[in-house]
Amino acid sequence: MKNVNPKDRSINVGLLGLGVVGSGVLKALTQKSALITKQVGCAVHITRILVKDQDKPRAVEVPKGLLTTDPSHILEDPQVHIVVEAMGGEMPALDYLRKALQEGKSVVTANKEVMAKHGPELLELANKNCVQLLFEASVGGGIPILGPLTKDLRGNEITAIRAIINGTTNYILTKMTYENMEFDEALKEAQELGYAEADPTNDVEGIDAGYKLAILASLAFQTKVAAKDVYREGISRLAARDFRYARELGYVIKLMAIARSEGGQLEARVHPVLIPKEAPLAKVDGVLNAVEVEGDLVGRVLFHGPGAGSMPTTSAVVGNVLEAASNIARELPSSSLITLDRVMTLRSISDLVTRYYIRVTVSDQAGVLAQMAAILGNLQISIASVMQKEADHRDQTAELVITTHPSREKDVQQALKELEKLEMVREIGNFLRVEE
Ligand SMILES: NC(=O)c1ccc[n+]([C@@H]2O[C@H](COP(=O)([O-])OP(=O)(O)OC[C@H]3O[C@@H](n4cnc5c(N)ncnc54)[C@H](OP(=O)(O)O)[C@@H]3O)[C@@H](O)[C@H]2O)c1
Repeated sequence: MKNVNPKDRSINVGLLGLGVVGSGVLKALTQKSALITKQVGCAVHITRILVKDQDKPRAVEVPKGLLTTDPSHILEDPQVHIVVEAMGGEMPALDYLRKALQEGKSVVTANKEVMAKHGPELLELANKNCVQLLFEASVGGGIPILGPLTKDLRGNEITAIRAIINGTTNYILTKMTYENMEFDEALKEAQELGYAEADPTNDVEGIDAGYKLAILASLAFQTKVAAKDVYREGISRLAARDFRYARELGYVIKLMAIARSEGGQLEARVHPVLIPKEAPLAKVDGVLNAVEVEGDLVGRVLFHGPGAGSMPTTSAVVGNVLEAASNIARELPSSSLITLDRVMTLRSISDLVTRYYIRVTVSDQAGVLAQMAAILGNLQISIASVMQKEADHRDQTAELVITTHPSREKDVQQALKELEKLEMVREIGNFLRVEE
């Protein structure tokens, strides 16, 4: 057993971070030590914990002498076999992960930002040093999804992934759907409940979901998808009326992360979509997450559950720790099941073909629809339905909600520009894609 003290045959874990996730990991590894020893074949101990502030009160009881503020106490200690990173952020976490792998330690991380931006480099480093790099908790919290993608579903050609992978935005959208709230009100409530951070940018602008989609798409399509390759739009421009109109049309609105492969091309995008209200993903509410995978053999499978939180995330981290520990205990070679060598071109959002929802405020007078239909028709955009809503008599305006048949995004964008120039069009209220 490599580097394992033969006297007490224990596998030593160095934990980086003792916050929401780190505390859960310490608790679980301590409370379940007997079960873990049985499963792994030897004891697994946390021997050192890196924090920023040693004097901070902790949510868990920490055995004396475990805390340190010096990363070398873990990264350069030859007795540490596995490094669990639960610090978050790109730096210094990236440097610490590189160092741990170079030192021949297996690594378990919950860090989506580092994996989305530097995953291929770190996986290569792990392979080079014959150690494992596992990161189940980086996507979907407690939902096992990366394991199935890299193991159980390997026999499939994956064709699509559709996912709700940000609990904060799903909570906000659920409130807007069922309680007719405006975005600001729903966000404020999410912040009061601790579901959204004081600065909610990462969540509401789709950055967090973009990181997770980059990881999912890389593994599913065995190619390198970086965070910057993912097209991204957030949810802050959605209005309560969009949810009412969507409902009347038979849809709900969700922030969806979608990756699809077609003819060697890959699309990867995060944005709000209308999905049919009877679709399984439409029923994923509150802070829950879900990932739907479509494969040529399996068809569609849905992974559904808690996408964050101390204990669900701990479940994923501890599962990875046990896998790494078992491999070390059995002296198994640490060859990775992950290959990212497929060459695929990324399809630009302007080449997307889908259905669209367009909400426009117009002057309430005859002929306006004919003018709009002419612009859409000239760009080969065919109208599927038109609803006229909420005429404002004082203002002499009306709101039109148009849905289209499948159309090309660049044509729709061009149409929106032309519609905006029409004298009778007061405002393009919103424009959303429909995912059938
Ligand atoms: N929270 C979740 O539900 C969840 C779910 C899935 C994945 N994740 C991921 O898990 C990771 C950790 O998240 P978290 O919510 O547990 O974060 P957190 O509560 O903010 O905890 C971060 C911990 O890391 C320590 N730390 C941060 N920067 C450090 C530095 N430069 N040097 C030493 N220690 C440092 C902090 O030390 P102090 O305590 O001394 O400040 C703290 O203990 C992130 O990558 C996150 O994206 C979290």
